[in-house]
Amino acid sequence: MIDYTRLYAALAQRGLQAWLDRLPEQLTKTRTLSRHGDFNKWQAVLHLLPRIKASSIDLTADSVRIGGDGDCDEAMRQDIERALRQLHPWRKGPYTVHGIQIDSEWRSDLKWRRLRDYIQPLTGRTVLDVGSGNGYHCWRMSGAGADLVIGIDPTALSIVQFNAIRHFSGEPPVYVLPLGIEDMPPGLGAFDSVFSMGVLYHRRSPIDHLLELRGLLRSGGELILETLVIDGALGQVLVPEDRYAQMPNVWFIPSCPTLMAWMKRCAYRNVRLIDSVRTLPEEQRSTDWMSFQSLTDFLDPENPELTREGLPAPRRAILLAHAP
Ligand SMILES: C[S@@+](CC[C@H](N)C(=O)[O-])C[C@H]1O[C@@H](n2cnc3c(N)ncnc32)[C@H](O)[C@@H]1O
Repeated sequence: MIDYTRLYAALAQRGLQAWLDRLPEQLTKTRTLSRHGDFNKWQAVLHLLPRIKASSIDLTADSVRIGGDGDCDEAMRQDIERALRQLHPWRKGPYTVHGIQIDSEWRSDLKWRRLRDYIQPLTGRTVLDVGSGNGYHCWRMSGAGADLVIGIDPTALSIVQFNAIRHFSGEPPVYVLPLGIEDMPPGLGAFDSVFSMGVLYHRRSPIDHLLELRGLLRSGGELILETLVIDGALGQVLVPEDRYAQMPNVWFIPSCPTLMAWMKRCAYRNVRLIDSVRTLPEEQRSTDWMSFQSLTDFLDPENPELTREGLPAPRRAILLAHAP
């Protein structure tokens, strides 16, 4: 299990007492983890991972790279690979762990490339990644110079996968905690940068989500928001009647002008759209490490501009803004 002593010290140092007061109890409950049917199996996998010191860590390359090729022998490498494969499906990545290439469903590096040159430099910043998944972008944020990176995600397997990667990486100031945004103390006003990527469309109230994110930022801090959008004018928003691209939990997909208007209504300053792209199979696909269905299965086989439900195919936008 991860020792959070340094995290607690870092929070105290940053005046995050309001969160520190409740966090240890939140983490001991680990409610999201232990409820999962595979929890014991995953714990056993984590316990069996060998202790190896990584001779090198590179958080700046597309594949988060931990350990050099010569850090362990072939038999041990195979043991590690077998263990990591038991944590299937790997949705976010890629990672290279002691030479083992984890080719995840998502090429999460492509999203990072689309935003890294536009955001305020992360050097020395305290960063929160809301809905971080297994933490791929948290590692990249750390590689970009952030002082402390905290991801939060309520999905058990994401936390277990993060813990497996972190196991090999020493004691970096990078954490992914088993929490949802609703577990964060409202109005913390503490983070220099807050990322919310791939989360807004899962929220039943997108405006509340924007307000919650604003409350977590310090005054002048930067929001990096990535979400599904539709082509369309101000005021247009898609509310799927049922599933969207087979996902049951998609609520609001606004046009970019609508989303920008929402952000301004929430008092964000300097709202900018920096990127908008259709999701392509090069970015989201089934792999050896995620063998279930993926993007091409969710699109209309006759017309890839539409989802199976006949709705516009996934397009994702990245927006930046500052907290007032
Ligand atoms: C589409 S994934 C995006 C992962 C990553 N941010 C990225 O952009 O690749 C959405 C993530 O949000 C997480 N999530 C769902 N509900 C959440 C909540 N209430 N608070 C925080 N994260 C949540 C999910 O577990 C999932 O890992």
